[in-house]
Amino acid sequence: MKQQYGQILVTPKPFVKWAGGKRQLIPTLNQNLPDSFGTYFEPFLGGGALLFHMLTERNGQKCSISDLNSDLVLSYITIRDRIDGLITSLKSHERNYQKDSKSYYYSVRKSNPRSAIEKTSRLLFLNRTCFNGLYRVNSKGKFNVPLGKYTNPNIVNEENLRAVSSILQASKVSIKCRDFEAVLSDAKKGDLVYFDPPYQPVSTTANFTSYTNKNFSFDDLNRLAELCNNLDAKGCKVLLSNSDSDDVSELFSKKSWKVSKIQANRSINSDSKKRTGHFELLIKNY
Ligand SMILES: C[S@@+](CC[C@H](N)C(=O)[O-])C[C@H]1O[C@@H](n2cnc3c(N)ncnc32)[C@H](O)[C@@H]1O
Repeated sequence: MKQQYGQILVTPKPFVKWAGGKRQLIPTLNQNLPDSFGTYFEPFLGGGALLFHMLTERNGQKCSISDLNSDLVLSYITIRDRIDGLITSLKSHERNYQKDSKSYYYSVRKSNPRSAIEKTSRLLFLNRTCFNGLYRVNSKGKFNVPLGKYTNPNIVNEENLRAVSSILQASKVSIKCRDFEAVLSDAKKGDLVYFDPPYQPVSTTANFTSYTNKNFSFDDLNRLAELCNNLDAKGCKVLLSNSDSDDVSELFSKKSWKVSKIQANRSINSDSKKRTGHFELLIKNY
């Protein structure tokens, strides 16, 4: 469903650039969706590339989305409920950035606003202007990415934000901040759960996992594999993305899991020469 914005019809897209974002893989993921399903669950939401595809292509699709990153979850809620105030706040960031980008960027990075609108506009502003456009926090949960090298970043991106706001308002989407395991009590037989967790490192230099101040550990991967087996036993349809690592292949070696290797591009890597094609796994039980 496209959203009307002035005279233009805009297709809502992810409003943040997110490490591991799935925009480039949408055609492959789409081909791997089941023909029919009940509620769509996405418990590692991030930028929500597949969510926006669902909402655009399947009018009236019931969705339940969640993530452990509370600032990110707040952004979805604020965009849905307080879009006018958010646009005004982003326009103010844009004006200040144009006066002195470096000092303004670091003052915003240091700030700790309290209101939902200011917290969300800070996240969006930093995401648009930081190095490589990624969200990364240190062990104390503080955003720690330096200023990026952009001449004219699109800080407000009003058309897309309004399109996202309209589609979230018009759709049946429940938005929660929680750990992925909570999906077990909500998902019912016939529902679809898509898991896109922080990936298991395939090498010691490939371990970007800091979306929150808690890293995604090997124990978390084990919890996830057990959860997938429990959802399978409940009759849920499960689709999972992960890296092409031995740990993942081993945990999903039972015959209920169909594992395929797919080609993907890694878009966030501080070394642009390493942003090359690679293989990853797509795992499903249907
Ligand atoms: C690979 S990203 C998802 C990317 C998303 N599919 C997209 O298209 O942008 C993984 C997400 O999992 C979230 N996360 C990490 N640990 C989690 C946990 N224990 N429970 C729920 N979400 C978690 C991170 O905050 C991050 O947003």
